[in-house]
Amino acid sequence: MDRILIRGGNRLAGRLPISGAKNAALTLMPCALLTDEPLTLRNLPRLADVDSFGHLLNQLGASTQIEGARPEDFGRVMTVRAGRLTATEAPYDIVRKMRASILVLGPLVGRAGEATVSLPGGCAIGNRPIDLHLKALEEMGAAIELAAGYVKATAPGGRLPGGRVSFPVVSVGATENAVMAAVTAKGGTRIENAAREPEIVDLCNCLVAMGASISGIGTETLEIEGRDRLHGATYRVMPDRIEAGSYACAAAITGGSLDLVGADAGDMRATLDALIEAGVTIEEHKDGVRVEASNGLAPLTLSTAPYPGFATDMQAQFMAMLCKANGASVLTETIFENRYMHVPELARMGADIQVRGRTAVVRGVDKLVGAPVMATDLRASMSLILAGLAAEGETVVQRVYHLDRGYERLEEKLSAVGADIERVGDG
Ligand code: EPZ
Repeated sequence: MDRILIRGGNRLAGRLPISGAKNAALTLMPCALLTDEPLTLRNLPRLADVDSFGHLLNQLGASTQIEGARPEDFGRVMTVRAGRLTATEAPYDIVRKMRASILVLGPLVGRAGEATVSLPGGCAIGNRPIDLHLKALEEMGAAIELAAGYVKATAPGGRLPGGRVSFPVVSVGATENAVMAAVTAKGGTRIENAAREPEIVDLCNCLVAMGASISGIGTETLEIEGRDRLHGATYRVMPDRIEAGSYACAAAITGGSLDLVGADAGDMRATLDALIEAGVTIEEHKDGVRVEASNGLAPLTLSTAPYPGFATDMQAQFMAMLCKANGASVLTETIFENRYMHVPELARMGADIQVRGRTAVVRGVDKLVGAPVMATDLRASMSLILAGLAAEGETVVQRVYHLDRGYERLEEKLSAVGADIERVGDG
């Protein structure tokens, strides 16, 4: 397995390109299942999860053709053609490796009137059930059967009637599945307490480009009129607000100055506001966001929350950054029950962090010391990279396959702005 070596202490400076958003790509790709015409996605990031999702689509009978990037994009172009589906099942061996596979459930029911998806099982950050996905489909008229680790959803007469979906808890994935199932339902669907993440806005905008009828986009109440069929489209994936936020933390923790080219400040307001409160200078411009940190970091009190609140996907990265703040910070993780796997690894680098239940108290230390550390999940891995950038000496991050799921060309992008970082294989 590959490892990443970092010799810390360098101040990062320069332009860093932001790729297309992983969590938008993973909900835009299954939209292709909703039509027999081609869906072309631009600015698609080069990530392991995107490749895995492409393989899943191939298993369902869709073709995925990759072209190079257009000059105005950082990511590749992929055209997905689902002219004729040959299967409506997402098997366990794919789902267990990538939870986002569950996002074929809604579009398969919407296109083929049925879907069989392996239950995803838990992951490092929590047990992550799918009850809200199934509740939404039932409220739209689907029959749900659970057996032998699989869930089967069936639309009566092959097409969902539609209905009123009311989420007791905000769920990004369940909202995405509900939207993708509703756009070709027989009647209308109202979704209440919908998640409002920018990736869901991207999903709705892509579906509208394909002929869907959705109103209330970006709000917690979506009204969707089912269409008999959708047509193909070409759609550009939004920039990755979590990647951009992660590299903003890299500038902050190294006292550096990074120009995040392609970042959209409008998608990351809570992250930028927190950085400003920590004393970081933020300058928004037409090509992206410039982040400058030169006079130390102030401690913060932060709670994660659904969008537009502070993103849970930014918690681990801020924790690493706040290990170098002048004082004690308090972080509360309200979304996932086990998203502090990075804490013991940061502690091995000299961090002073006390976790009690969902709350972590992070006391800033004068220095972090490089050490061999283990990645456990995607964003925890990034927090170790960030700590390594600021630590004295060498940090070796193992199990970097976690990173490859969500950060495109990480060591290339960081080397280009002055980090002393390299990937070494075990080969
Ligand atoms: C999406 O996961 C993202 N993944 C996650 O990003 C992100 O952390 C999360 O949204 C929250 O923003 C993708 O978009 C591919 P949820 P998702 O459903 O949809 C509970 C990353 O690092 N819940 O909004 O799985 C759930 O357990 C990844 O890029 C139920 O109880 O998140 C959690 O506590 C990690 N029942 C809460 O809701 C359900 O049926 C929010 O989960 C579904 C979720």
